[in-house]
Amino acid sequence: MGNRTIEIKRLSGAIGAEIAGVDLSRDLTNRQFDEIHQAFLDNLVIFFRGQELPPDRQVALARRFGKPMVFRFAKGMEEAPEITEVVKEPNQKKGFGDMWHSDSCYLEKPPIATMLYAVETPPYGGDTMFANTCLAYDALSDGMKAMIAPMRVVFSSALKSEGGRAANQALRGGMTATNMDKADSLEAEHPLVRTHPETGRKGLYINTHHGVRLAGMTEEESKPLFTYLCNHIAQPEFTCRFRWTPGSLALWDNRAAQHFAINDYHGQRRHMRRVTIGAA
Ligand code: SIN
Repeated sequence: MGNRTIEIKRLSGAIGAEIAGVDLSRDLTNRQFDEIHQAFLDNLVIFFRGQELPPDRQVALARRFGKPMVFRFAKGMEEAPEITEVVKEPNQKKGFGDMWHSDSCYLEKPPIATMLYAVETPPYGGDTMFANTCLAYDALSDGMKAMIAPMRVVFSSALKSEGGRAANQALRGGMTATNMDKADSLEAEHPLVRTHPETGRKGLYINTHHGVRLAGMTEEESKPLFTYLCNHIAQPEFTCRFRWTPGSLALWDNRAAQHFAINDYHGQRRHMRRVTIGAA
């Protein structure tokens, strides 16, 4: 632990660390913030347990890391519009975020981070997996790296399938097929290989959740490379898996990590509060 004020325990060889020794409901000192921020950059997703975090404190904490954003496709909490409630009721089947992705990549400026707080968790299941897209990039051959270096990916917010639209039902106030139309969809193009602005590491920025095609190619032409790279990122050795308990909080780096909310707890309730964070 050295001179650190917080304790950091890595969760896997690839990504993720659990942090202890800090009460997030209180204002962080600059030193605590610097240590937590460094742990966030080093591990790409950090987790805390047993935190009492009412909505206003969650937004205040998010503000230390950047600018909390308002999620366009669901109504935020009355008292904290930056918070989207992700709730799956026992009678619902569809989950939200149950595909590998990073958040809102259809925006010109996607969120740098996402903060998710667990209010209620099922007795089993409902874990979230995370993948390190920099490690996935590093593991590619030089030939593949050279080929994909100039490529760009087109992302869209249009939920492509009935399943995707239904997934929004797991958002409190979320838009569904009945209240979302084409006009609401956003599109943005980003480099397939992104250089992290703070660490300088290169990572893969591609997923089939919002990714439509490679720029300059048809969807059909893009498919083989999409499939290869997305499967490559999801390999177990690039991932970790987090078991939620009420009061857990995760903060992940959308620039270098992807996540997957496992939808394996039908008949149980799961209630999370989510804030996406843009650059300050
Ligand atoms: C998300 O994709 O942002 C939701 C993740 C989760 O609920 O675990």
